[in-house]
Amino acid sequence: MSKLRVMNIVGARPQIIKASAISRAISKEFSNDIEEIIVHTGQHYDRELSEIFFDELEIRRPDFNLQVGSGRHGRQTGMIMERIEDVMLSEKPDCVIIYGDTNSTLAAALAASKQHFPVVHVEAGMRSFNKQMPEELNRIVADHASTLLFAPTNTAFKNLMNEGFRPENVSPYSINNPRVILTGDIMFDNSLFYASLAEKKKKDLLHNMGIEEGKFVLVTIHRDINTDDPVRLGNIFSTLKKISDENRITMVLPLHPRTMIALKNNLPELYAEVTESEFMKLIRPVSFLEMILLEGKAKLIVTDSGGVQKESHFFSKPCIVLRKETEWVELVKNGTVKLADADPEKIKEAWDYFLNNSGDLQYPAFYGDGKAAEAILAEILLVFKH
Ligand code: UD1
Ligand code: UDP
Repeated sequence: MSKLRVMNIVGARPQIIKASAISRAISKEFSNDIEEIIVHTGQHYDRELSEIFFDELEIRRPDFNLQVGSGRHGRQTGMIMERIEDVMLSEKPDCVIIYGDTNSTLAAALAASKQHFPVVHVEAGMRSFNKQMPEELNRIVADHASTLLFAPTNTAFKNLMNEGFRPENVSPYSINNPRVILTGDIMFDNSLFYASLAEKKKKDLLHNMGIEEGKFVLVTIHRDINTDDPVRLGNIFSTLKKISDENRITMVLPLHPRTMIALKNNLPELYAEVTESEFMKLIRPVSFLEMILLEGKAKLIVTDSGGVQKESHFFSKPCIVLRKETEWVELVKNGTVKLADADPEKIKEAWDYFLNNSGDLQYPAFYGDGKAAEAILAEILLVFKH
């Protein structure tokens, strides 16, 4: 019997990391049954947002790189659709795996489903219920174009039920009769797998950065609502600077290039203040092993990232989220994530709360057993194997 041809689609940083869990499981357990074709849309192209992950996580280089680069939503999504359709038509995959909620996810979902290649959505059912967020539209469309939907959390599964997906559907599955399954989160698989490797391979990182375990705050900011609005960006950076000055605590900020550009260009005075500050370390994006090591050693995490807020939980760290809402609602209910928006008062309130209560916090296992990738691949084989 011929192998199942699975097209693994990546484009942005977190998708390369997510796809590594699937690629790893294919090589370890499914290489006799599954042939993987890796397509990179080129949405992220800087070494620190792309290539570094292929090197470090030992992922095979993409079979195709569509090199779309940056651009407005319509142009970027359209270019990916146009180029990826050609690749799909020539490669004829048995199914196409998409991750999360980026423009690459949306474009691949539309291109594949319109050519009747079944779509597998990993991280299905996440909702912020804010359709002004570009990712929310991407997620909804991706889910409704999919044949196989893997929900990482109970909430995600319920969200899909509320949108009319049915757990009782039976084979043969299709876009009109999709299969929805709760599997846990492949990023939990990754954190478990790479945590000890990070300890080994990056053991000098803190020393080289001049920081000490438990004595720094890790900060990431990249979401468009924060970077593209100078008032929000200004509030965030001036509040963080104030907290670091008052508490004499180091903040480590591996900044996405869009945030660095926005701060430099739109708020040059504040940029000068924070870069001259004794406590604010603005650095370039770091590798995944470096990132999870920093997460594990930080006192607290401040972020607007979906992935980073979840990793804060994997590494039992309190987390202040610079958004009004989140898709990972169980973390907020659990009290270990506080939504502070870009509001100086709320950020300070959350900081004070965690400073006084971090000993009482619990970090239950919300995200599965660390074997989500294997469960996903076993199901893909069951559903699509000819
Ligand atoms: C994208 C995703 C977002 C995800 C994030 C992960 C969409 C709509 N957004 O946001 O959901 O959380 O990736 O990191 O798909 N840039 C570079 N180098 C690069 C790539 C981008 O400098 O390699 C800069 C460019 O100025 C670009 C800007 O970042 O215009 C935004 O890039 P883009 O891919 O559009 O969105 P992200 O903010 O990265
Ligand atoms: N990450 C990284 N280096 C960094 C910042 C983030 O390796 O400098 C990782 C992080 O550990 C997480 C993922 O990138 O696994 C999250 O990506 P991002 O914040 O860009 O996007 P989101 O998860 O919000 O879509």
